[in-house]
Amino acid sequence: MEKMWSGRFSASASNLLDQFNASIMYDRKLYREDIEGSLAHAQMLAKQGILTQDEFKQIQDGLAQVKKEIESGEFEWKISDEDLHMGIEKRLTQIIGDTGKKLHTARSRNDQVAVDFRRYVLRKNLEIAELLKLLMQEIVIVADKHTDTLLPGMTHLQHAQPINFGFHLGAYLSMFKRDIERFESSYKRNNISPLGCAALAGTPHNIDREYSAGFLGFDSVSVNCLDTVSDRDFALEILFNISTMMMHISRLSEELVLWSSYEFGFVELSDEYSTGSSIMPQKKNPDVPELLRGKTGRVYGALIGLLTVMKGLPLAYNKDTQEDKEGVFDSVETAEISLEILKEAIKTMQVKPQNMNLACKVGHLSATDLADYLVEKCNIPFREAHFITGKAVAKSEELGIDLSEIELKYLKEIDERISEDVLDCLVLENSMNARQSQGGTATQRTKEQLDYFKKYLEEK
Ligand code: ARG
Repeated sequence: MEKMWSGRFSASASNLLDQFNASIMYDRKLYREDIEGSLAHAQMLAKQGILTQDEFKQIQDGLAQVKKEIESGEFEWKISDEDLHMGIEKRLTQIIGDTGKKLHTARSRNDQVAVDFRRYVLRKNLEIAELLKLLMQEIVIVADKHTDTLLPGMTHLQHAQPINFGFHLGAYLSMFKRDIERFESSYKRNNISPLGCAALAGTPHNIDREYSAGFLGFDSVSVNCLDTVSDRDFALEILFNISTMMMHISRLSEELVLWSSYEFGFVELSDEYSTGSSIMPQKKNPDVPELLRGKTGRVYGALIGLLTVMKGLPLAYNKDTQEDKEGVFDSVETAEISLEILKEAIKTMQVKPQNMNLACKVGHLSATDLADYLVEKCNIPFREAHFITGKAVAKSEELGIDLSEIELKYLKEIDERISEDVLDCLVLENSMNARQSQGGTATQRTKEQLDYFKKYLEEK
């Protein structure tokens, strides 16, 4: 099979090389970007008088035909064509004849692939940000219902202080909002056209890069051609953005797994989004959050993989770079399905406030409140207050009760400066609502936080 680049070769490529060298079986995903890029390029060549209007028209019609064939499944993707750029150009030339051979004037596959892949990545930054917003909306709905549902706030996975479930979910809303901003800023930073950089050094043809860039929706034109054809920062960025987002998803997933255990019993995932065991008939497994946690690993792999591919490359384009696509495609698909399924799992899960409340009754969650009381009401230095509270905790343990249930007489035995008003501080709900500082868990503060996220989502 004759290659487009075979002019200087006397023997044809081996089948084994074809297999090894080809990207067409996966880069065909970029066919729309490739055809649009070719159209923009041809339009520019026509404006500059490098193509005649008639030649442009032929190319335009021919590309429309190619697109139709691809979308109807008629198009034959051949390993021997190497990549989608050559596959499409070859078919164009079969359809319109020699004019098709003029399309590649003032262009190289190096800037062509940079255009196609960059535009795919840019679009995916925005699409993933959109899916994140939908997920946030679902979380807001659940959080809204639980701004006074108490559960133990933890550090070191040990009971720490009482918080409300809306506040807990608000932490994830904060993470996902930052993720959205990261995707959006990558979009803005990288919306720059590589088209017209040609192989590495620009072109002697009188082209108009601004014109083709505008056609493709780019904000501007890249500054240095040598950089542009070898730069894959935009791909690394989306991999990092997805990795960070998946890390957040994985943390939430870990909590969903814990919460749906008998030990916690804070939520029950719906039957629709749970699975059974092949041997243990009683089981209902949280496969969705487990898989989300697991898939985070493959996304990290893609990020580290591409960083490694790039690290030793001399300027400018090297074929190593062809390894940039599969990891990105896989990570993007993983991100998309993960966001969708997590949204559904959250939407359909049952929250169990009674169990959350019950869990607050162990672990002396209002201990810090007693210490704060001693500081504020009794003017005791915090270190000493901490010590006195420790005694009260020990007493409660001895009595087999939670500190929130201790009687005044025991507290007075420990320190006679304590008076009756202490009991209010020990009530778990009061403890939660006492945390009125900015960003704190008090129901009122939580509602303000949720309003902030709602407003953010509405503005979007
Ligand atoms: N299939 C190649 C890639 O994905 C396209 C660019 C090839 N350029 C070249 N000079 N061989 O990177």
